[in-house]
Amino acid sequence: MKDSYDYEVKAKARAMLKSTIQTIYPKPAARRTLKVLTLLGHQNLELEQIWDPLGVPRQNITNIEYDQKAYETSPKDRGTKNVFGNLEDVIKTLPESFDIINLDMVSPFNVHQRDILRAISFRQLLGEKGILATWYLGQRENRLAKKWFLFNKEKYVSQKTEGEGLVERGDLISRMINCIMLDGYLNFIPHWICNDEIIGKKYEEFSREHLAKEWGIDPSGEDFEQRYEIAQPIHANRAQLFMGPVIKEFIESTPSLKLLSDNSKRIYQDILLYQKIGSYFSMMQKRFRYIGNKKSVMVGDISYYKQLPLDTIVEIQKFGSDFKILDHRHSSLVKEQNRLFQQFIVSRRRCWENGQEIRVNLGSSYTPKSREPLVEKVNKEDLTKEEAIYLLREGVPIEEILETYSGLTKM
Ligand SMILES: C[S@@+](CC[C@H](N)C(=O)[O-])C[C@H]1O[C@@H](n2cnc3c(N)ncnc32)[C@H](O)[C@@H]1O
Repeated sequence: MKDSYDYEVKAKARAMLKSTIQTIYPKPAARRTLKVLTLLGHQNLELEQIWDPLGVPRQNITNIEYDQKAYETSPKDRGTKNVFGNLEDVIKTLPESFDIINLDMVSPFNVHQRDILRAISFRQLLGEKGILATWYLGQRENRLAKKWFLFNKEKYVSQKTEGEGLVERGDLISRMINCIMLDGYLNFIPHWICNDEIIGKKYEEFSREHLAKEWGIDPSGEDFEQRYEIAQPIHANRAQLFMGPVIKEFIESTPSLKLLSDNSKRIYQDILLYQKIGSYFSMMQKRFRYIGNKKSVMVGDISYYKQLPLDTIVEIQKFGSDFKILDHRHSSLVKEQNRLFQQFIVSRRRCWENGQEIRVNLGSSYTPKSREPLVEKVNKEDLTKEEAIYLLREGVPIEEILETYSGLTKM
C-alpha cells in the first residue's frame, strides 16, 4: 500500500495553492482554459481539492509519475493526460508550455530538482502569467548536498550577508528557485544542448582546438590526448565561448539551422537563455512549511512569474562579422528606472534572503505514536553519481566525496 497524502496540513497547503491561483486568475472562464503540469500521485486528492473546485478541466492536466506502483494503482478514470516517466527526462521533451506547474516532490532539493527547474526556465515552459509551486523535503540532504547549497549561496550572494551557519535551508531553496527562473543559470554546468548529437560533435571540435591553444601544445600529439582525457569534457565557460559561433551559424545559414534541429526556434531560444539572460520575473511569492504525518518537514514555494518575451529583453546585433546579444535590462531598463526595471529589482531581491516573503508555518500532522517509517523510501541518504561528479567538478576534495559515495575511484 502506498502512503496516503490525506492529512490536514497537506490539505492546508493545497488550499494555499488554490487561493493563490484564484487571486491570479479570479475569473472562472479564464480558469477553464488553464493548462497544468503536476504530479498527482496515486490518489485524487489534488484533483478534488485544487483543480476540480477551480474549474480546471481534467483534460487540461498533464500528470507525470515515475513510480510503477503509484502509476498502476492510481484511478484509471481520472480524465487527465498521464505520462509514465521521470519528470527530469520528460521535462526536456514536453512540447507545450503550462500556466501552472505544481512540483509536489518527495525529495530534498538536489541537482535533479535543480535540473528540472532549469529545464522549465530554459525552455520557457511556464506561460506568460505562470504559477510555479514547488514542494521539497526540508531535511535529510546528505552532508555534500548541503555543501552544494553553500556553493550556490556564494554564487548568488550579491551583497555580503551573515555567516554560513545562519543560512536557512528554506530561504536558500527559495533563492535558488528564483535565481534559476530569473537567470536560467545556476552553476558552471553548461546547457545540455552541448550533449546534442550534432552540436555536441561541433563542441568537441571547438573544445579540442580551444584547449590546444590554451595549453600551447599540438592537438594531434599524445600529450594532448592525455591532458584532454582528464580535462573537464564540457565546461560552462568554454561552452559559452562556443555558443557565439553557433549563434552566428544559426543566423547566417538557414539550411544548417534546419540541420541542427526540427524545432530551431526552441533551440535558438535555449541558446539565448543560456547566455544568462533570464526571462521570469517573480511578481508574487508565498511560502509555507509543514510537518507531514510521517514527521517529514516540507518546504513549499509558490510564485507567480511574469514571463518576458525574449525580444523585450534581448536583441541580436551584427558587429562586423560577429553577432552580439544586447541585454536591454542593462541598458534601457536601468537607465529609465521604469516599471519593468522595478519589477526586475524585486525579482532580483528574491535571490537574496531579505527579499523573500515570510514563510508561513502551516503546522504539523505528525502524531508521535505513529509506527510508520519517518520518510518515504525515495529519499536516499546516498549521493547519486551525478551529484558526486558535480561536486568533484566544483572542487570538493575526492576524499570527502568518497565518504558518502563509493562509485568513484581516486586517480
Ligand atoms: C507527494 S506525491 C503527490 C501528491 C499530490 N500532489 C497530492 O497533493 O496529493 C508525489 C508523486 O510524484 C511522484 N514523483 C516524485 N518525483 C517524481 C519525478 N521526478 N518524476 C515523476 N514522478 C515523480 C511520486 O512517485 C509521487 O507519486
